[in-house]
Amino acid sequence: AKNVGILAMDIYFPPTCIQQEVLEAHDGASKGKYTIGLGQDCMAFCTEVEDVISMSLTVVTSLLEKYGVDPKQIGRLEVGSETVIDKSKSIKTFLMGIFEKCGNTDIEGVDSTNACYGGTAALLNCVNWVESSSWDGRYGLVVCTDSAVYAEGPARPTGGAAAIAILIGPDAPISFESKVRGSHMAHVYDFYKPNLASEYPVVDGKLSQTCYLIALDSCYKQMCNKYEKLEGKQFSLSDADYFVFHSPYNKLVQKSFARLLYDDFLRNASSIDEAAKEKLAPFLTLSGDESYQSRDLEKVTQQLAKSLYDAKVQPTTLIPKQVGNMYTASLYAAFASLLHNKNSALVGKRVILFSYGSGSSATMFSLQLREGQHPFSLSNIANVMDVARKLKSRHEFPPEKFVETMHLMEQRYGAKDFVTSQDISLLSPGTYYLTEVDSKYRRFYAKK
Ligand code: ACO
Repeated sequence: AKNVGILAMDIYFPPTCIQQEVLEAHDGASKGKYTIGLGQDCMAFCTEVEDVISMSLTVVTSLLEKYGVDPKQIGRLEVGSETVIDKSKSIKTFLMGIFEKCGNTDIEGVDSTNACYGGTAALLNCVNWVESSSWDGRYGLVVCTDSAVYAEGPARPTGGAAAIAILIGPDAPISFESKVRGSHMAHVYDFYKPNLASEYPVVDGKLSQTCYLIALDSCYKQMCNKYEKLEGKQFSLSDADYFVFHSPYNKLVQKSFARLLYDDFLRNASSIDEAAKEKLAPFLTLSGDESYQSRDLEKVTQQLAKSLYDAKVQPTTLIPKQVGNMYTASLYAAFASLLHNKNSALVGKRVILFSYGSGSSATMFSLQLREGQHPFSLSNIANVMDVARKLKSRHEFPPEKFVETMHLMEQRYGAKDFVTSQDISLLSPGTYYLTEVDSKYRRFYAKK
């Protein structure tokens, strides 16, 4: 198979959200801390009628319908998620309801879990399958679904929720440069979920930020090395049109792009002009550790990267800023923002994606874009995702109601024997929702 990659995408996020400015005031944080300090505008969350299973049912059904894909045409289905509802039964098996109805039970794949990286593991599995000798000619389907919720405190505003479905096949408008890829895997305790009775992670936010940047440096270096071996010339920021980052909060994305500029400087890459070299000279001798801690370096690189950031990163930030951290879906929601903002103007462009999952696992990889053919074209993908309408038609909760919802969700996590309110007035037609969890923990869903 040639030009294997993304044929189609769809995104779903809950219609319920809270403005960061409102949450900031309610939490007693200083004005601008969440909006400027973290760089976030708004945060989506699930109410009691939605969860990672309902969201993935919604997005998969929508993708198949809107692109006219027959469920029998799916030969592999992989889910990435770090939201644990069941320690054994995969989310993929819930989705099989859609395919069984059509007589298709011949579908490989299960769930992948490692913090925000599971979606990328699922994606690489599907791409590798289509490129392999075991490929049977059908499509791969990747689902990234997560509800990111944090205990009250400084991490709470970095929540979010969404599900994304990605159709994989040959002759794709968005194809993988499979050899241009670098990974970094390590053992760290930056963010983890050891308390199986709680949905909330244990998180060391500052450490997580450093681990993210260490992984970013390492992946970029690996990827550059592979590119140089392959192409016989150096890779730098100038060689890609857009950079898309896993986005726990936008401030980290700003810092990450600035970090790549510093990496280019250390590699003596052609993307760094003389004026920038002069400004960065004082930082040439910093040790790795010092460089992650240096506020001055952060400031100088962010200033130097500002115009490049506006051109190569800013168009990718819309959905993560508006919806929040979507864990496994976060990187692909950032990529969806780029497709939404630029669609056909992306023809001929190269886009670099950086996926990070705490714990940690990370991969940087490269995509090449072409227009493709309807329904699998850049412009149709942007049409189908309909991001502007979905963002506009949301319902903003006041902070008291948000906090009340979080309390109810805490009680419901791991619980059995309850029916939900089934208040689905805020959901759009076609949305799946949770109706009941019975005395044997079996979950029941309906479609609005
Ligand atoms: N106006 C403007 N900026 C402000 C204001 C204000 N009033 N107040 C604070 N800030 C800035 C700070 O200067 C800081 O920015 P800087 O880093 O550029 O200096 C930023 O806002 C955050 O404030 P802090 O006090 O440094 O951070 P805080 O202790 O509130 O925690 C954090 C922020 C660490 C991001 C926290 O929200 C968290 O832990 N989130 C979870 C992160 C996570 O989940 N990581 C794991 C996921 S994996 C991953 O995806 C990396």
